[in-house]
Amino acid sequence: MKVGIDKLHFASSQLYVDMSELALARQAEPDKYLIGIGQSQMAVVPPSQDAVTLAANAAAPMLTEADIAAIDLLIVATESGVDNSKAAAIYVAKLLGLNRRVRTIELKEACYAATAGVKLAQSHVQVHPDKKALVIGTDIARYGLHTPGEPTQGGGAMAMLISAEPQVLALTDDSVVLSQDVMDFWRPIYQTTALVDGKYSSNIYIDYFQDVFKGYLAQTSTTIANFKALVFHLPYTKMGLKALRSVLPLATPTQQQALLAHFDCARSLNRKVGNLYTGSLYLSLLSLLLTDAKLQPGDLIGLFSYGSGAEGEFYTGHLQPGYQRGLDLGLPQRLANRRRVSVPEYEALFEAQLKLDPADQAIAFQDDPHRFVLTGQINEQRQYLDQWA
Ligand code: HMG
Repeated sequence: MKVGIDKLHFASSQLYVDMSELALARQAEPDKYLIGIGQSQMAVVPPSQDAVTLAANAAAPMLTEADIAAIDLLIVATESGVDNSKAAAIYVAKLLGLNRRVRTIELKEACYAATAGVKLAQSHVQVHPDKKALVIGTDIARYGLHTPGEPTQGGGAMAMLISAEPQVLALTDDSVVLSQDVMDFWRPIYQTTALVDGKYSSNIYIDYFQDVFKGYLAQTSTTIANFKALVFHLPYTKMGLKALRSVLPLATPTQQQALLAHFDCARSLNRKVGNLYTGSLYLSLLSLLLTDAKLQPGDLIGLFSYGSGAEGEFYTGHLQPGYQRGLDLGLPQRLANRRRVSVPEYEALFEAQLKLDPADQAIAFQDDPHRFVLTGQINEQRQYLDQWA
């Protein structure tokens, strides 16, 4: 029996900032952001969206009534949690109308956690093939205005339905994991923005990729030639390119060109969104599947997941016939339809988040076109609204 990703659907903000404009405002050369970092646009998440609403907005459009009836596991992976105790998954389950017999949990290990969710869901469905698991990686990447990390912000959520006989990607049972205590990026509980040793984190990322990728080749007796494409967690798209380049000497010149061309497809949508932490690898997978005309059913895709702190995993799946049926086909158009905000508008939205304060607060949500929005806080409880109800 095959188990894997049956559907993928993405949600982010209707707003973005242009990276050339941001570069000029920060006295940087536009090419530093466009080429050196590898980002052309960055999602600007308004205060009416948080990890819960992004997750619900990502999942709702892809779920049929039959899916909802079959889902008995909801995993929300996030490092942008809205509560220190209650799982974001409980709110998401309510917004999505999931049934009461669903196991709802929140997972955390920086950007890696959605991969832990996918692998746990895979095992769950292998044991219960008549059930489905919903895994959502949802985050808002925040480093702060005028910081070196600023051009690597962004946000969004990727929802994935894991099932038997999946439409998109049948996962293999092989994977290699690496987990060690590394202080490359972290966010103490009193911080709303991440602390990061940027250059160090980028070096650790490559070390982890080398370790788990080469470990995978050795463990499974595969070579780089077996892979049609390699997809990466993309905190900024140049990061994945650097990691890919680090293993290209294992491939022939023709294979190198092919892997680089597939990578260009795999980063094309991430270039327009920025980092979304847990969902980033899976946006890259979706980007590959939506934009690469050279893929074929049966192709072996390798996925590198990295979460600071640090944990990495390399795992694989085979592309399924008719995989397009499980994809978020409208995503490129939705990204093209977003509204460009000026740098001052982006800065104002950055500062306008719900305050970490017990007082009642109201959020202007009327311009947010998404179905699920955060409207504020009353009696220290977040208020979520389904605008379609
Ligand atoms: P920086 O120090 O401002 O940038 O910060 P830089 O000076 O290193 O320049 C960046 C690149 O632009 C360099 O290329 C420059 O040469 C190039 P590289 O040497 O890296 O190939 N450059 C230019 N290129 C073309 N034309 C020009 C030009 N000028 C310069 N005119 C840094 C960069 C990424 C460190 C910073 O943005 C940062 O700290 N970001 C956050 C940390 C991060 O994303 N780390 C990635 C690995 S860790 C990870 O992936 C986990 C994470 O997602 C969190 C989680 O797990 O939850 C972050």
